[in-house]
Amino acid sequence: MTIEEKQKIACFLDLAWDTLHSGYKGKQKEYDFTEKETAASSHFIQQCDSLEQIYKEIGACKNCQLSLKRKNTVPGEGVNNPLVMVIGEAPGADEDVQGRPFVGKAGQLLDKMLGSINLTRQTNCYIANIVKCRPPQNRDPHPEERSACIHFLHRQILLHKPKFILLVGSIAAQSLLNTKMPISKIRGKISEYKIGDLIIPLISTFHPAYLLHNEDQKRPVWEDLKLLRSRIEEFLNEKNE
Ligand code: URA
Repeated sequence: MTIEEKQKIACFLDLAWDTLHSGYKGKQKEYDFTEKETAASSHFIQQCDSLEQIYKEIGACKNCQLSLKRKNTVPGEGVNNPLVMVIGEAPGADEDVQGRPFVGKAGQLLDKMLGSINLTRQTNCYIANIVKCRPPQNRDPHPEERSACIHFLHRQILLHKPKFILLVGSIAAQSLLNTKMPISKIRGKISEYKIGDLIIPLISTFHPAYLLHNEDQKRPVWEDLKLLRSRIEEFLNEKNE
């Protein structure tokens, strides 16, 4: 049987990429996977995925140069199946040392922002970043670093199934929404984030680190937080009806 024939059968049977891959080691270059196979493969991966597996992979990841200088990976923390998943940019120095997201000055402000609308990482939020390792001197993560890492976040979203997503800062908003628009234009409204079978209401706002130096921007952030809270209230009321 030729490779093309096997490929067609695999496609017809919805075989996953991993099944093909292990069956044809050393010949992967000969495959030109169709969209259907790719979809089957991501379905397969999702079926077998777990938070433990993601944490394990993040801990061992060497897919980009950020892995070379990190002290710790920062996968994320909070409750499972949260009401809100908060997504920032990248770990900073404090986060790198502790292996926990948003624990420095910006993190303390983030906790206050969340607290103002009855959200905490201990009770109803999960906090993660676009990239899981600290960029040197806290520079913005490069596009290739973001794309090497983004599958971890996608998988975290798929498994956690948050009811809402809050993106803080331009890197988080631009990366997840796949746009180049400035955060000042993205913020202020609720949109829908679609991933797998999920449609999740999402809002973006300024990063707490930016607020530390731009106090006058606390007002628009408060407007964004109030908008998020009002949508959360609607959701909770509907659930209790
Ligand atoms: N800034 C971020 O975007 N994420 C962190 O975890 C800390 C600071």
